[in-house]
Amino acid sequence: MRLDIQQVSKRYAKNTYGLKDFSITIENGILGLLGPNGAGKSTLLKMLATVSKPTEGIILLNKNNIEKDPNYMRKQLGFLPQDFGVYPNLNAIEFLEYMAAMKGIGGKTLRRRINDLLEGLNLTHVAKRPIGTYSGGMKQRVGIAQALLNDPKIIIFDEPTVGLDPEERLRFRNLISDLANHCIVILSSHIVSDIDTVADEVAIMKSGRLITQGNQKSIVELVKDKVFEITLERDQLNDFKMSHIVVSTMRKEGNLVTRFIADSPIETATVQEANLEDAYLYLIKTN
Ligand SMILES: Nc1ncnc2c1ncn2[C@@H]1O[C@H](COP(=O)(O)OP(=O)(O)O)[C@@H](O)[C@H]1O
Ligand SMILES: [Mg+2]
Repeated sequence: MRLDIQQVSKRYAKNTYGLKDFSITIENGILGLLGPNGAGKSTLLKMLATVSKPTEGIILLNKNNIEKDPNYMRKQLGFLPQDFGVYPNLNAIEFLEYMAAMKGIGGKTLRRRINDLLEGLNLTHVAKRPIGTYSGGMKQRVGIAQALLNDPKIIIFDEPTVGLDPEERLRFRNLISDLANHCIVILSSHIVSDIDTVADEVAIMKSGRLITQGNQKSIVELVKDKVFEITLERDQLNDFKMSHIVVSTMRKEGNLVTRFIADSPIETATVQEANLEDAYLYLIKTN
């Protein structure tokens, strides 16, 4: 599978762009799409899912233009929109049967497929209860199940871990890793820790633009030797924040152990091993 996004823009109104001149090539594996709220993640993913059209540029799936031939994408697509809604009166089995009918999926294997998905997403024990009685995490897992009904080759999940507790996040991660062998999986999030353990590739975006793309190692490399720790007194922190990118602070014996990013070393600060969170913050603050 190969997805080429070529100079795509989405203009919502005069001078209001959700996405601007965005280009990226995505191949099999897991792509983590990271960016703060308003970065344009949902705008991009909706266009990939053919529920919205670019105002400029083209999107090719295996060289097929998906605007001209949306069914080529739709047949192979599993999509979990950010604002996914479920029907509260249906139970999970009824809902998934309904979604399957909408997608034109049927046949003898459907019921088996639904059972497998419910099992894999740990929903079997609530499968006959109305979805309206589910927790947020359970509803989200029903959303994930409907996206996987057609055994998709391109899977797009927009902020899938919102509402999931830590254990559910872990299960989700394992599920995604299993799926990604021969397909494209795109996951969006504004939380680095949702992406960094699963994604092969990471794309970081802000204000409708792609800031950088690469494997995690190459992105972390951007802040190598730029991450430090320093112990500050409490009343020093605000001043320090004015001139440095502070990643985190931790209280210790009345002081604040402060992790920050700087282009050159500072006396009394010690160099730390950089991680994706550091790189993300650095890129977002300096772009
Ligand atoms: N339907 C719309 N009409 C006008 N502006 C929109 C619309 N949808 C999104 N936007 C704007 O486009 C930008 C990107 O939004 P979005 O794609 O939802 O970002 P993200 O998913 O990364 O939070 C934001 O500034 C948002 O306000
Ligand atoms: Mg969004």
